[in-house]
Amino acid sequence: MSLTNKETTSPKYNTVMSGMRPTGKLHIGHYFGVLKNWVQLQEQYDCFFMIADWHALTTKYNNTTDFENDIYEMTLDWLAAGINPEKATLYVQSGIPEIAELHLLLSMLTPLPWVQGDPTLKDMVKILSEELNYGLLGYPVLQTADILAMLGQYVPVGKDQLAHLEISRDIARRFNHIYQTDLLPEPRPLLTEIPMLIGLDGQKMSKSLHNSILLSDDEDETWQKLRTGITDPARVKKDDPGSPDQCQVIYKYYEFFASPEAKVLAGDECRSASRGCVQCKKILLESINETLRPIREQRKLYATDRYQIEKILKKGQVKAREVSQATLQNVRRAMKLYES
Ligand code: TRP
Repeated sequence: MSLTNKETTSPKYNTVMSGMRPTGKLHIGHYFGVLKNWVQLQEQYDCFFMIADWHALTTKYNNTTDFENDIYEMTLDWLAAGINPEKATLYVQSGIPEIAELHLLLSMLTPLPWVQGDPTLKDMVKILSEELNYGLLGYPVLQTADILAMLGQYVPVGKDQLAHLEISRDIARRFNHIYQTDLLPEPRPLLTEIPMLIGLDGQKMSKSLHNSILLSDDEDETWQKLRTGITDPARVKKDDPGSPDQCQVIYKYYEFFASPEAKVLAGDECRSASRGCVQCKKILLESINETLRPIREQRKLYATDRYQIEKILKKGQVKAREVSQATLQNVRRAMKLYES
């Protein structure tokens, strides 16, 4: 008798799996680019949202002192943004040893050129300007194990992850072909076509560049950052008429935080020079605060009880292990491995 995964998964029929490396506090780009989407997905799918600490280790193996706190802060942001632990399964990768085992097994049938050709990996090596470690080379195989251990069918990711996912599909197909089974799904991307929020300085938004508003920033911190945001560079004095199209940051943010009418008004008043940039930022600040208020309040609430966060991750770990243990039993059987 082999275990079926259906026995351990919830009634929602389709499975979504995704993950994030623990980078600590998240910013508004993460919110609009990822979390908002996850919050919707948890209503329709059986969702597994994983904190990928082993993936973080592939590049930060020599700098792990903040790991525990980064995991805690990121979980707080997920919950604050509306990820509901009653609806989705939240867990930390390193708490699921079955993922490591599946990674090992899948690595046996992954041809080296598949991972060597991964463009995302090449970029990472370039940025790190380091030798390519064995562990980092396995990045896409580990990611495949994350997805397939939960039998994930859909993977919400950004464009940068598509190459990884293609490898996951190839590995799943190869496994099924070699062992004559249909056990592993070929995971499909759920692309989020969300326009990117750029940083306040006009560069790519990134925590290390200090050009982002964090979900954990309060109203005052938000203003201190927002006031540095770049506007139409040709508009020097308040009386100069501005061009909203040249206002790459502040005017763009209106699209994410304010109503369409408020955006049109901001554009009109910029062109007619009846609204100055500082005033424009203050009006935007109100909309940002309104949008982030419920998130900030939730975050504060959760932050008062660290034990509760640990309980949530523990509960997710139990569920994720149940599912992955069933998968691994089926994988070992399909591969005709020794049953210990
Ligand atoms: N590599 C992903 C990123 O950097 C994170 C990740 C790890 C992931 N495991 C995953 C994404 C599984 C989707 C599915 O964003």
